[in-house]
Amino acid sequence: MTDPLEVLVVAGARPNFIKIASLVDALDAHPDRFAVSIVHTGQHYDETLSRVFFDELEIPRPDINLEVGSGSHARQTARIMTAFESVLEQRRPELVVVVGDVNSTVACALVATKLGVPVAHVEAGLRSFDRTMPEEINRVVTDAISDLLFVSEPSGMDNLAREGIPRERTHFVGNVMIDTLLKHRDRAAGSSILADLGLAGERYAVLTVHRPGNVDSAETFGRLVGAVVEIARDLPVIFPVHPRTLDRIRETGLRDGLESSRGLRTISPLGYLDFLALQSAAALVLTDSGGIQEETTALGVPCLTLRENTERPVTVTHGTNVLVGTDPGRIVSEATRALSGESKRPESPPQLWDGKAGHRIATILEQWRTRRA
Ligand code: UD1
Ligand code: UDP
Repeated sequence: MTDPLEVLVVAGARPNFIKIASLVDALDAHPDRFAVSIVHTGQHYDETLSRVFFDELEIPRPDINLEVGSGSHARQTARIMTAFESVLEQRRPELVVVVGDVNSTVACALVATKLGVPVAHVEAGLRSFDRTMPEEINRVVTDAISDLLFVSEPSGMDNLAREGIPRERTHFVGNVMIDTLLKHRDRAAGSSILADLGLAGERYAVLTVHRPGNVDSAETFGRLVGAVVEIARDLPVIFPVHPRTLDRIRETGLRDGLESSRGLRTISPLGYLDFLALQSAAALVLTDSGGIQEETTALGVPCLTLRENTERPVTVTHGTNVLVGTDPGRIVSEATRALSGESKRPESPPQLWDGKAGHRIATILEQWRTRRA
């Protein structure tokens, strides 16, 4: 009988917590085979961006919190690396698992690989082909140095093959974020958020926007807000505001425009179950979030992505996603089209988005370990 595989799972930002929830579940289902510890880097630290997900999704408390906080890319990444190096030197796990594309992902992957600890990247291979996005740099670097690459959609396998990543490292397993959605969908149906917002039985839209390319330029952000204010004349729009976006609203003159719109309602970021309930019943979602593009496809809810590109093309080819960019005229006309019921309804979800990605990863990790023994 061999000891369980010591796996150190890293998470730092909101979407990471949602991804590790189902992954850790799948590994913890086999305590004889996996001994999982969680490191929270502290990249996100607000209650509404961090703790609420651990509570609602019953993610085990992190064994370690590096408490790095916010900062420029270099400062934040460097702080995570320095702190994580000490953790790895003490713990020496057999495998580090990183998820997604945030600064915590690339920082911990770099540290682990240089200390000779193998790295598994969950949600590998996604590419927007837009290197002005910080996440694209994080994806390319993390994939280049990972030993095991777990891929959520077919485009990821093609991208990794094109970049020369050896085929034996890459595994198409499906989508852990959708595992979490499918697992908690019924619980989300019990959320009181629609009643709390006075939306029960109403038609409404949901907006989220936080990409630097959209909110850090007052001009682009102003154009987006203008389009949404237009849509909100006919349809209530609920806007849970990400902290980066809140900072920009405070710094620019956009607060007045937002407050004077009757239909556009800003609220604090929501917990997972409330947000899932809100997007599930929405007539339309407008977003620049990576994860929400996928979730709306899984839910069959029309989604307009306020970007020129996506690293998740399966949501466009096999889902409900339409890339509309940031031109206000286009956003308003595509919203009208989607609301008139003309939007596409996929017949089946993307391949392997079936709630079993975490289990597939667990099986592959076991085989990997056996081969190394
Ligand atoms: C990060 C990720 C992004 C991801 C997003 C998920 C990177 C490069 N970006 O972007 O890919 O889509 O998380 O939400 O890793 N702040 C708070 N409270 C917090 C966290 C942040 O107020 O708990 C504020 C701070 O002012 C901070 C700003 O938000 O400077 C940005 O936070 P940061 O983690 O650097 O990037 P995000 O925009 O959240
Ligand atoms: N989300 C949430 N509350 C909110 C907004 C989003 O729980 O107020 C969830 C959403 O359902 C998805 C994830 O956060 O699971 C997406 O994270 P985010 O948009 O911050 O990051 P991205 O996916 O763009 O990296």
